[in-house]
Amino acid sequence: MSRHDFQIPVTFKHRIVFTRDAFSAGNGCVEELLKEGGGRRAVVLIEQAVALAWPGLEREVQEFFGRTDFDFRGTTVLPGGEQVKGDDGLVRRVWGILDGAHIDRHSYALVIGGGAFLDAVGFATATAHRGVRLVRFPTTTLSQDDSGVGVKCAINGFGKKNWIGAFSVPFGVVNDFRFLHSQDEETRRAGLIEAVKVALVKDGAFFEWIEGNVGALAELVPGVLERCVEQSALLHARHIAEGGDAFETGSSRPLDFGHWAAHKIEAMTKYQVPHGPAVAIGLALDTLYSAEVGLLEKESAMRVLAVLDGLMLGIYHPALDWLEGSGRRRVLAGLDEFREHLGGELTVLLLEDLGRGVDVHEMDEVVLGRCIDVLRERWEDAPAGVGAVVGV
Ligand SMILES: NC(=O)c1ccc[n+]([C@@H]2O[C@H](COP(=O)([O-])OP(=O)(O)OC[C@H]3O[C@@H](n4cnc5c(N)ncnc54)[C@H](O)[C@@H]3O)[C@@H](O)[C@H]2O)c1
Ligand SMILES: [Zn+2]
Repeated sequence: MSRHDFQIPVTFKHRIVFTRDAFSAGNGCVEELLKEGGGRRAVVLIEQAVALAWPGLEREVQEFFGRTDFDFRGTTVLPGGEQVKGDDGLVRRVWGILDGAHIDRHSYALVIGGGAFLDAVGFATATAHRGVRLVRFPTTTLSQDDSGVGVKCAINGFGKKNWIGAFSVPFGVVNDFRFLHSQDEETRRAGLIEAVKVALVKDGAFFEWIEGNVGALAELVPGVLERCVEQSALLHARHIAEGGDAFETGSSRPLDFGHWAAHKIEAMTKYQVPHGPAVAIGLALDTLYSAEVGLLEKESAMRVLAVLDGLMLGIYHPALDWLEGSGRRRVLAGLDEFREHLGGELTVLLLEDLGRGVDVHEMDEVVLGRCIDVLRERWEDAPAGVGAVVGV
């Protein structure tokens, strides 16, 4: 027998820009970014909802490339939203566009859209030629404050979230703040849950800032919203770059706090409950559970629930009480699926303080049941409108 182990060191540069009106004449950030890679050819893919909200965008992109010497191969408007992650239809369409435009591994695909669109198109760019350069322009609160700066892409499969996907570091991310202000208010607010999440697991001072600004955030005051999005994006990116496990080979996944239940609720409701509202519920559940098992002070857990109330995010959905034939709550299968998705032993992050998480390897289903009861009662008592987005 002969065995040889090699180390293959690979590092990536993660370029993240915060700006406004990225394609306007006075803004050089996109040109600078593309020039850094040395490639010349580019295509642009825009999510339909964004093209509708910003009717001048296609022309702006065209004019931008007109001012540069890149080999611009045109813009295509494509559908987005969670439904495009439901099958491989969009992925195949994008492969066709990339092939038709002769996009090679040095060329760029500039992709403008929400988290679901970026996930599906990102999977296509990650797999075309084993990876062409993706420049993401996230357009929702959630995609700017979390997923857009991530290094993953996926579509859903076999009834499960993100079953088909890859790790793939984008060439660049341009968070253009202007896109933040054209989604409906509920979607904008729901995306803030990922900022609350990363604050709770990484940065207690940021949680206190969110708490202190909860009114302005709920009202979507632009400057406050943008500051929150930027801080959240940077905390996510820093964790990925400096946390020691960018491609999640271990079992610990702090950025997935509250996500085992969230992903299950999304799948159980056939994605009628979107990701942001589902995370709000999952985060409320795991926060309450942390207090119930004595890890987190009860008062701290109540502060978290008060922030969710303040952001008008729901903390309960009837899916939490849907039962299997055996009488077990169906949502609890989310724990099994979470473990399977990660591999290895079950690892769920709970809170031991506001800003500090701790990994645990089992969750008590009876205690979880009690927490669900509390969330249901609290939700039933909530004033009309709070969390209406996930109402029955
Ligand atoms: N890859 C990752 O690391 C990662 C991390 C977290 C979440 N995600 C994924 O992100 C997705 C959720 O992303 P999302 O919250 O952005 O939802 P989304 O992409 O579904 O967008 C929400 C809605 O807003 C519309 N929209 C997008 N931008 C708009 C704009 N500027 N103006 C008006 N409407 C606009 C979309 O068409 C859609 O209807 C989920 O699929 C989730 O799994 C991925
Ligand atoms: Zn998430």
